[in-house]
Amino acid sequence: MSIRVSFQPSGIDGGAPAGELLLETARRLGARIGASCGGRGKCRSCAIRLEGDHLPEASAPDREVFSAAELESGWRRACQTRISQSCRVHVSARTHGAAVMHGQAMTATRVGIAEPVAASGLGLAVDLGTTNLAASLIDLETGAVVAQAALENPQAIYGGDVISRGGRALRDPEAAGELRRLAVTAIAALAHTVTGGRPETVHHLAVVGNSVMQHLLLGLAVEGLVKAPYRPLLSEAHDRPAEDFGLAPGARLHVGPNIAGFVGSDHVAALLDVLDSEPQGCWALLDIGTNTEISLFRDGRLVSASCPSGPAFEGGALTCGMRAAPGAVERVRIHGDRADFGVIGDADPVGLCGSGVLSLMAELRKAGIVDRRGRLGGDHPLVRERGHVREVVLAGEAETGGPPVTFTQADIRNVQLAKAAIRAGLDLMLEHEGIGPAALDRVLVAGAFGKYIDLGDAVAIGMLPDLEAGRFSQLGNAAGAGVGRMLACHGARRRAGEIARTAHHLDLGARPDFQKRFIARMGL
Ligand code: FES
Repeated sequence: MSIRVSFQPSGIDGGAPAGELLLETARRLGARIGASCGGRGKCRSCAIRLEGDHLPEASAPDREVFSAAELESGWRRACQTRISQSCRVHVSARTHGAAVMHGQAMTATRVGIAEPVAASGLGLAVDLGTTNLAASLIDLETGAVVAQAALENPQAIYGGDVISRGGRALRDPEAAGELRRLAVTAIAALAHTVTGGRPETVHHLAVVGNSVMQHLLLGLAVEGLVKAPYRPLLSEAHDRPAEDFGLAPGARLHVGPNIAGFVGSDHVAALLDVLDSEPQGCWALLDIGTNTEISLFRDGRLVSASCPSGPAFEGGALTCGMRAAPGAVERVRIHGDRADFGVIGDADPVGLCGSGVLSLMAELRKAGIVDRRGRLGGDHPLVRERGHVREVVLAGEAETGGPPVTFTQADIRNVQLAKAAIRAGLDLMLEHEGIGPAALDRVLVAGAFGKYIDLGDAVAIGMLPDLEAGRFSQLGNAAGAGVGRMLACHGARRRAGEIARTAHHLDLGARPDFQKRFIARMGL
């Protein structure tokens, strides 16, 4: 039996076989529903509200997640719900809001070209991120940045992190093909946007990204990345015809080199950019995301590593986490019994984005609502018990006109895990070099998340070392600047290859002391 499903507010509707998982229906029809954990029932990002005559029974896990009143009003998780009757599906504002693309753009208006890849024409440089893609159209003769655009990575429907997506690709060859198609389509859409609808004017394309993103784009097997030994099939830079992107006939694709399985060509591109302006001294470069890459530079030597920081800072795996989109709480200040917060787009609050999460954690600790071990005290007006869940209520139902914006004890634990992974990684890298944090002349924080956080909050919760403010810099999309150089200049491509080959990779997961250090850094 076929039924009709209509998604709101997008208005997308279509038929579905009775009994299909609602998340699958949404994927098939092209309706966006967040799926941070990839549909494994481990988050709340796929929360939707159903409207219809016969609501499906809530699954047992959903009865744990939603209150009785929420279940009564039709709240369910799309990955846990099979529908057998026609219905309307209201997608949560946490999920359907367009991501804010601040921090995706490169700030430079020109890239340096010593050895041009082409004497003239246009090229497209793409940073293929797990969360967003950022593209720059570059004049290959002058290096001028002609136009820029960014797009949410449409692969997000298969999970917010590379492990969810890679795991899905491994289990299901059809999904692997779909993940490749989504990446190709997104790059083609960016080419269309930045060229004003004339992508056939682009003759060169350069792409950087983490190894899983690159493998999926190139249609390579991800097994070696998703399972031990966590090694890429391809580490060297790679050139091939840029087919399928709708570019000029004969256009070429250049994919940047990797340092290791989880230190991808996006980090190499960021290093390429940073090494130009910071060729001396002792510095650390951190690109914070679902997987955080860290490089330590000292006396001309480069050591790189990655830490599994998870999706918490990108709004994933948290009760009310969301991307930086209208309605996302981005700053919190607690004054006595009350919390004041800033919301992106001056909208009603619907969730917390990464900078809001960091800010809230720092404030909860400062106000003594959370103790050093991360335990949430019960005797503050902002804290309540819901069943066996203790949570901070930032905005109640009356303020949101829907589910409240809350931050639970489990959310606090997830953020502690993320920040402890990053800090333990940095600690071990410093130890490996025989130095302490005070030896760092500079701490460079790259990436869109890194650009918008309050570094004081990151220091307050122990994610970054307590150094004077002048030693920190927020770089924004350094990978975007680096891939622009790789696109236009043979010398930059060679230099990127040298960086990837000569950087010493420190495998933190293989170090027996990582776990001990990680636990020690859980405290706030
Ligand atoms: S719980 Fe449904 S995607 Fe995570």
